[in-house]
Amino acid sequence: MSSASLATTPVVEATNLKRVYEIRRGFMVKPDHLQAVSGVSFTVHAGKTLAVVGESGCGKSTLARMVSLIETPSSGALNITGVDAVNGPEEQRLKLRKAVQLVFQNPYGSLNPRKKIGAILEAPLEINTPLTARERAEKARAMLALVGLRPEHYDRYPHMFSGGQRQRIAIARALMLNPALVVADEPVSALDVSIQAQVLNLLADLQQSMGLAYLFISHDLGVVRHIAHDVLVMYLGHVVEQGEKTALFTQPLHPYTQALLASTPGLAGSSAIRHRIVLKGELPSPLNPPKGCVFSTRCPHVTERCRAERPALREVAGRMVACHYAEDFLAA
Ligand SMILES: Nc1ncnc2c1ncn2[C@@H]1O[C@H](COP(=O)(O)OP(=O)(O)O)[C@@H](O)[C@H]1O
Ligand code: SF4
Ligand SMILES: [Mg+2]
Repeated sequence: MSSASLATTPVVEATNLKRVYEIRRGFMVKPDHLQAVSGVSFTVHAGKTLAVVGESGCGKSTLARMVSLIETPSSGALNITGVDAVNGPEEQRLKLRKAVQLVFQNPYGSLNPRKKIGAILEAPLEINTPLTARERAEKARAMLALVGLRPEHYDRYPHMFSGGQRQRIAIARALMLNPALVVADEPVSALDVSIQAQVLNLLADLQQSMGLAYLFISHDLGVVRHIAHDVLVMYLGHVVEQGEKTALFTQPLHPYTQALLASTPGLAGSSAIRHRIVLKGELPSPLNPPKGCVFSTRCPHVTERCRAERPALREVAGRMVACHYAEDFLAA
């Protein structure tokens, strides 16, 4: 591939990704089918962040597991750095495992308590590179500095660090193999708010200096505001709104996006306040989603049409929205 086409090839290109789980209630009983992710499409370019937001259970982690190659999509296409991650040649798909790295929510659970930080950082190099022990140690020490830790931390164990420091270590480990894409699933949700900002700043700095693409998962729009370029809002496995961050934050067109914004402290800006949507009622069971619009059981603007007819995801005012009445909110 020429360098010109590499520059324009997205790091991730997902088309209509779906994931269905079979839920078995017992022997001899027909299994139920749970659509955890119902057709999600997006692209992420080098140096950019796509944030995926929505309430717990909407399918964010399932999407993260598919994009990080832990789980195979039930259907749809997934290209990463131009390689078909689902049906491509095995040799190419194995290489992709280095190009995509994960950072999890829980910095306590994701680091082996019996290994020193140096060994934790060097493990991926041992398996995947021909570097000598000395070269691996050099790289690990350089990475410690890059994520804002000190040289003496190399010989310490995970329990000797704070939550924020542990998440820096998890980020360092994810970057050891120079990935193109980092999938971060609620990476700051377990941290104090003051520490969250530091880790988000670190992620933004690393993105700039290394040209990383991020798929950044969060239930918290306040967190997303700082780091996202594009935002994808999910509800019950479906995309309800998707587009450039500023457009979504200043003029959300889907009532669910409006509700999320209105309920985020510090973000209830002019538009969200105008709509004054308060999320009421329970999230429907994903095993039995509403027939028409997935948001119809909680939407303050619901009509008979909404209950009967599922709105398509379509372009309105430069972004994608799945609401029959999206145009009405442009004027509102
Ligand atoms: N391995 C699994 N088997 C069955 N159902 C699952 C599995 N993983 C997730 N689910 C279901 O899929 C839906 C989406 O879950 P998840 O992707 O974890 O959402 P989120 O990360 O947004 O909280 C939920 O209803 C969840 O119960
Ligand atoms: S289609 Fe109807 S129920 Fe769904 S979000 Fe729009 S107004 Fe609400
Ligand atoms: Mg999750």
